[in-house]
Amino acid sequence: MLGRKGIVLLGAPGVGKGTQAKMLAEKFALSHISTGDILRDAVRAGTELGKNVRQVMEAGELVSDELVSEVVRERVLRDDRNRGFIFDGYPRTVAQAEYLEKIMSDTPIHAINLHVDEEQLLKRLTGRRSCSGCGRIYNVYFSPPEKEGICAVCGSELVQRKDDREEVVQERLRVYRQQTEPVIAFYKARSNYSAVDGNRDVKAVFGDLCKIVSSSSAESPLR
Ligand code: AP5
Repeated sequence: MLGRKGIVLLGAPGVGKGTQAKMLAEKFALSHISTGDILRDAVRAGTELGKNVRQVMEAGELVSDELVSEVVRERVLRDDRNRGFIFDGYPRTVAQAEYLEKIMSDTPIHAINLHVDEEQLLKRLTGRRSCSGCGRIYNVYFSPPEKEGICAVCGSELVQRKDDREEVVQERLRVYRQQTEPVIAFYKARSNYSAVDGNRDVKAVFGDLCKIVSSSSAESPLR
């Protein structure tokens, strides 16, 4: 569809994809498709999909390409009439990237890779806490709530994701290097690829991302 944006946010677990994708979606009126959020919602709701993926997610492994791609296809069809999409946590394998190209054939994709040093990533992941009520994300090292363990917005309890325990984090990083890093080369071989230094504070990273998203358009297609 002419003028519609397709933004793919790439990067290791904890680089800040979710934090930035929510802000970008709001600013540019894009649909935010986070496969991690969709799968976690399914686990919480105890749906068939949730039952199928719970163990795999808690172990830090990847859910099968077939299941995840079906989830994405449904979401893209549902939000088809909007101004575009920002994908967060998808694609995570080259097969998923190829599938996305197929279902978004009428929309140019711009892939943006966020990079953060490993020591910082470990702190971001093991320190992350989310509100069990409104979903707001905190970090005990970088953005703690005023009252320990309590959300400053809605007063609900803050919880740690099961896959943010240190031993699972190490496995997620291993899986990332093995299965997801090749996706960077996939997009580098196309024309619309940018890299952003994610080691800086949220605002500075957001500023760079906004410039890239503003300039991405149907006039600069993927191929
Ligand atoms: P998913 O939820 O996608 O997890 P992830 O990619 O591992 O990413 P995270 O959510 O951990 O990190 P993030 O980059 O979004 O960082 P955030 O902004 O939260 O996937 C979870 C699981 O689902 C997978 O392991 C897999 O099993 C399954 N799955 C999902 N998609 C799949 C797919 N496509 N295929 C197969 N399986 C799939 O930030 C992290 C922390 O850092 C927060 O505390 C935040 O406050 C803090 N922070 C953020 N930015 C900054 C900054 N600039 N400075 C300081 N702190 C910061």
